[in-house]
Amino acid sequence: MGLDLLTTTRAFRRRLDLTRPVDPADLLACLDIATHAPSGTNRQPWRFVVVRDPDLKRQVADYYRKGFAAYLSARTPRPDQLADLASGRYLAEHLHEVPALVVVCALGRPPAEPSVPGAASFYGSVYPAVWNFMLALRERGLGTTLTTAHLRYEHEVAEVLGIPDTEATQVALLPVAHLLPGPDTPAPRRTPAAELTGWDGWNRPLTGERT
Ligand SMILES: Cc1cc2nc3c(=O)[nH]c(=O)nc-3n(C[C@H](O)[C@H](O)[C@H](O)COP(=O)(O)O)c2cc1C
Repeated sequence: MGLDLLTTTRAFRRRLDLTRPVDPADLLACLDIATHAPSGTNRQPWRFVVVRDPDLKRQVADYYRKGFAAYLSARTPRPDQLADLASGRYLAEHLHEVPALVVVCALGRPPAEPSVPGAASFYGSVYPAVWNFMLALRERGLGTTLTTAHLRYEHEVAEVLGIPDTEATQVALLPVAHLLPGPDTPAPRRTPAAELTGWDGWNRPLTGERT
């Protein structure tokens, strides 16, 4: 699939096949690819919990729905966000039906004293693995969406799954399923890099060279 993989891997929600099981061997192969991501001083602080048991999925999904509802009630969406939110609502309603929920954790807790380098190292040492995982899934015809809505209930979900939340922090929940057929077009609504990039300083245009 080459570079297309990078531009067409998007938030898959309605295209998740809720009826077809996902092979654990596929999940493990994709998680192996996740572990090739960079991390600060190669700490590899990621841990994964794959949830397939229907009762556990329902409990996690109930907390997700509460978190998602709180997120929705705290904001007034722009008109261009309405379609995304409708698809987000669809995912929330069906989360317990998705064949596998993969909870990604970081070893340790975020720095108690917020610091820019500390936060960058903590979260930045796990999210590249999340993205590797998403790309590896897509390569195999599987899909997911990076979600965080359940994190308002991090402690409760930790209890459900036996995650020791004094020493590990949940950073994302990825509902994984086979992809139903659909258009594999690049993710829309992206601002071109030329409008976001400064050259030799913030917002400074590139002059005298062709782009
Ligand atoms: C840090 C982060 C948190 C997110 N949390 C949620 C979430 O809780 N629920 C959800 O449905 N989507 C969530 N998303 C997915 C975004 O809505 C999605 O990536 C974005 O709208 C782009 O979608 P597209 O690639 O399909 O255009 C999250 C994405 C990121 C990067």
